[in-house]
Amino acid sequence: MSELRPTEPPAYPGFFLSFEGIDGAGKGTQIDLLVESLTARGLPPVVNREPGGTAIGQQIRGILLDAANTQLKPTAELLLYFASRAQAVDEILLPALAAGELVISDRFTDSTLVYQGIARGLGAEVVLQLDAISCRGLMPDLTILLDIDPETSLARAATRNQATASTQTRLDDESKEFHTRVRGGYLALANACPERILVVDGNRPAKEVANTIFELLLPRLALAVLGKEGDC
Ligand code: TYD
Repeated sequence: MSELRPTEPPAYPGFFLSFEGIDGAGKGTQIDLLVESLTARGLPPVVNREPGGTAIGQQIRGILLDAANTQLKPTAELLLYFASRAQAVDEILLPALAAGELVISDRFTDSTLVYQGIARGLGAEVVLQLDAISCRGLMPDLTILLDIDPETSLARAATRNQATASTQTRLDDESKEFHTRVRGGYLALANACPERILVVDGNRPAKEVANTIFELLLPRLALAVLGKEGDC
């Protein structure tokens, strides 16, 4: 039973950065640009994606995003997101952080708090309980929230799905109201955790956004070398 109990946040020498934002906010593009910049400076990061950062997570992602799965119930959906995350925590995140790596995760528990907890109305408490079991106190050291307006996001997602003829659109098929609730949830979370969650305007050209992110990240990386603090 003891491994099911939430534990103290793990101590590790690495740095854990997550990216958050509504669908189509440009996380993928920004993560690619950041990986390029960091690698060019001799700091190649380890990258995770939620859901789906591991081979098992990819299979779970297939269920979650398949547009045919209209019968997927909110509680089952919630557990699947955490199943993918728990696998990534043990397989990728904790080992890499323990080895002192810089780890970038495309989404983490903030996504679940906002999409399932707020937008689907399941509440924060159940999300935090499952987080305690799945992540055992692991929380990003820094989170970049890419903020764009829902109309732009839906237009971007539609273009992407058309270009790739994707059937992994179950979430993209949600209404503008749903994405507006998601965005509001993110901004409320950032307001509650201003030290950890930095809001970046994602409506600007990609290179400009990338420069802002790099400038925000560097001092935080430097601080991390000196010691960590904060509990949000
Ligand atoms: P992702 O592939 O990151 O979508 P996008 O590239 O459009 O941002 O994530 C897939 C979808 O899963 C996305 O709509 C957000 C949703 N999601 C949740 O609802 N809860 C979660 O915990 C996570 C990680 C993602």
